[in-house]
Amino acid sequence: MDTDPDAKDSSLILIKQGAEARVFESNFVGRKSIVKERFSKKYRHPTLDSKLTLKRLNAEARCMTKARRLGVSTPVLYTMDPMLHTLTFEFVDGPSVKDLFLAFGANGVVEEQLDDIASQIGDAIGKLHDGGLIHGDLTTSNMLLNNGTNQLVLIDFGLSFTSTLPEDKAVDLYVLERALLSMHSSCGDVIERILAAYRRSSKQWSSTLNKLAQVRQRGRKRTMVG
Ligand SMILES: Nc1ncnc2c1ncn2[C@@H]1O[C@H](COP(=O)(O)OP(=O)(O)OP(=O)(O)O)[C@@H](O)[C@H]1O
Ligand SMILES: [Mg+2]
Repeated sequence: MDTDPDAKDSSLILIKQGAEARVFESNFVGRKSIVKERFSKKYRHPTLDSKLTLKRLNAEARCMTKARRLGVSTPVLYTMDPMLHTLTFEFVDGPSVKDLFLAFGANGVVEEQLDDIASQIGDAIGKLHDGGLIHGDLTTSNMLLNNGTNQLVLIDFGLSFTSTLPEDKAVDLYVLERALLSMHSSCGDVIERILAAYRRSSKQWSSTLNKLAQVRQRGRKRTMVG
């Protein structure tokens, strides 16, 4: 335990407490960083639990690294601690797309900026999908816009997996579509702009968007029944 109150490297500031992870702001060898700690579900057997947590931690690290290889901007993974169940990432300085879109809702849409963000989102998802990677949690809070470069950065690969099935890609897009409709209705046809960019980015856009139409229909049927 470090007892020096000035030891910045050991300070952790909680920024998000979730059901399966805690996220802290910290310092990694002098750089601002994010520490994501997965914790156990108490009802599981402790050894089994630790194994599962580690598996998920590994999967998240691997998927994020794979996304980078595919040309999608993600935070740099600084280190992983298998004992503490933590991943330490580069801190991305900039707002989430969620906050940007909510600001558009409150203050009026800046068309050029909305267009730029939408096209970066579509392009990034196309690259992931053509590389056989499904993000699994495409919401606007899992997208950041780097202040310095204006580049879109995807985060939170905790539910990511590899697949080349059009169905999985379509569901990935559908999750985003639902999130946009419910939270960012004031941003108008932003999903159309994202899909237009996806079409330009993904070679397999046609089979994916055909599936998306089916997934939407299923969703509609479900809401009519339920
Ligand atoms: N590299 C980063 N740079 C800056 N902020 C980050 C970074 N990683 C995460 N954050 C912030 O922490 C929040 C939570 O991180 P993350 O989404 O990875 O965890 P989570 O607990 O799985 O969240 P969720 O419940 O949304 O799935 C993000 O929404 C973002 O605000
Ligand atoms: Mg998240």
